[in-house]
Amino acid sequence: MKNGTIWQDICGNDIQAHGGCIIKHGDTYYWYGENKGADNCPGRNRVDVIGVYCYSSKDLVNWKYEGLVFESNKDDPASYIHTSKVMERPKVIYNEKNKNFVLWMHIDSADYTYAGVGIAVSESPTGPFVLKRVTVPNRQDSRDMTIYKDVDGTAYLVHSKDWNKTLNIARLNEDYDDLDGFYVSVMADQEREAPALFFHEGMYYMITSGCTGWNPNAALYARCPQLLGKWKLIDNPCVGENSRMTFFGQSSYIFEVDGRFYLMLDHWIPHNLKKSGYSILPIEIDEKNDITVNWQDEWNGI
Ligand code: GAL
Repeated sequence: MKNGTIWQDICGNDIQAHGGCIIKHGDTYYWYGENKGADNCPGRNRVDVIGVYCYSSKDLVNWKYEGLVFESNKDDPASYIHTSKVMERPKVIYNEKNKNFVLWMHIDSADYTYAGVGIAVSESPTGPFVLKRVTVPNRQDSRDMTIYKDVDGTAYLVHSKDWNKTLNIARLNEDYDDLDGFYVSVMADQEREAPALFFHEGMYYMITSGCTGWNPNAALYARCPQLLGKWKLIDNPCVGENSRMTFFGQSSYIFEVDGRFYLMLDHWIPHNLKKSGYSILPIEIDEKNDITVNWQDEWNGI
């Protein structure tokens, strides 16, 4: 699979799973993301909301289409999930206690002023996910976001707030279907978005992008020995040609396979979002806890 381009599923159709995540359940990987498989609205850098697509794979290369697992509402313009609104960065997390799959996503008005999250639940990884609530987390605006499950099983919503100036790490309840009211603010006034986190040998890492909409910018990583501690900004993890532009991509998620970590990027095409590409790049971690991401022309699995 050629990094930076749109990829196809095993039937030869474009994979529509932008701003997404890859999780493993049993021996299967599931990739969830935004279905942007329609033409841009005329003259605009948006596609009306279709919903969340899911694909499955055993090898992270051959992806089988599993369906539209969460659908937008086509009939009620007042609905938070109406096609005219915004539904971005879907992230799915498995709840061991209830044996549920919980989908969190950025839900917004078309002009991005609502700034909330939606939470939907399914008993199966391939849906259908049923909407539980739409909320503004802890009464703080929330745009780009991810979900992070800590080593102790506690899960957190990590979201940009204060018009993307600062990030919040907000704890979820035991069912993972709501906030529990506790949060910390980190990287104050750094204007970061597109957060993606991982934990390795006693250290938490977070890669973020700058705030330039669909256009690429330089990534930055931060690290901290405690998830809720004082995160330290370190550097751009990307190295080599086009590293100042994150190889023309933007972070969406980091997944782990056999102790190695892989960064998923979206390569947005603002005027033709349905053709936006993907990359998966391995993250190198050295003995000083510094991380680097190199460009690779191809993703061929692990
Ligand atoms: C980006 C964000 C995307 C989308 C886009 C809209 O900054 O990461 O998820 O919201 O802006 O312009």
